[in-house]
Amino acid sequence: MADDRPILMFDSGVGGLSVLAPTRALLPHAAYVYAADNGGFPYGIRTEAEIAARVPALLGRLVERYRPRLVVIACNTASTIALAAVRAALDLPIVGTVPAIKPAAEQSAARAIGVLGTDATVRQPYVDDLSARFAADCLVLRHGSARLVELAEAKLRGEPTDPAAYRAVLDGLLGQPGGDRIDTVVLACTHFPLVEAELAAAAPRPLRFVDGGPGIARRVAYLTEGQDWPALPKGEAVFTAPLDVGDALRTGLAARGLATISIL
Ligand code: DGL
Repeated sequence: MADDRPILMFDSGVGGLSVLAPTRALLPHAAYVYAADNGGFPYGIRTEAEIAARVPALLGRLVERYRPRLVVIACNTASTIALAAVRAALDLPIVGTVPAIKPAAEQSAARAIGVLGTDATVRQPYVDDLSARFAADCLVLRHGSARLVELAEAKLRGEPTDPAAYRAVLDGLLGQPGGDRIDTVVLACTHFPLVEAELAAAAPRPLRFVDGGPGIARRVAYLTEGQDWPALPKGEAVFTAPLDVGDALRTGLAARGLATISIL
């Protein structure tokens, strides 16, 4: 029997599309609702208290409206701050996105990794904990960048971005003491895989970039194993505040299976 309940993915902006892509690749028959909290964007410069108050309440509204089978918080900032509160408030499976420090540590030959996230994410105790558990023998350097979030949003709007801006972000990480040893960089904000090619092109030397998207896709596939899917796959993007969706973003969303656009 067909089951129309969607998978709900949530981010402050377009970043969660980097989680949607590998998930759709594994589960092409699912229905997806992609929720972007443009009304609260950007999260990375907000306080813990603001995120902790906003995210569970907003997800409550979205769950009531869309009745999803599962929620993915496709945002490191929201997950590292509010995942426990969201799980406590909602009675359905919640998959979070946390910095991919474990796979990065597994792959770093130099035993030196960089964590590139938002300012809010890189200061979280969650990151201390992941580093201690999975990268205890590595040098772990962090850098928060609101600029890189803006660059990813601009790219998806079809606006040209300056290669020097990507280099400046990388310099903030690699320019720290010991940064010259880094061989692996965790893209600890879901916006950043959207500009991985630009980062790689701007890097002063070859770097390996690692993000949580593929791991989350496998987790969602595992949690929904054996479930029925809609007769026809479908997708909707919902924004929390009115916006002028330009042609490039509309086309980009449609290319990712999000043909309907609405406002919450
Ligand atoms: N995409 C989000 C993350 O993974 C946050 C971007 C922002 O709103 O600052 O952290």
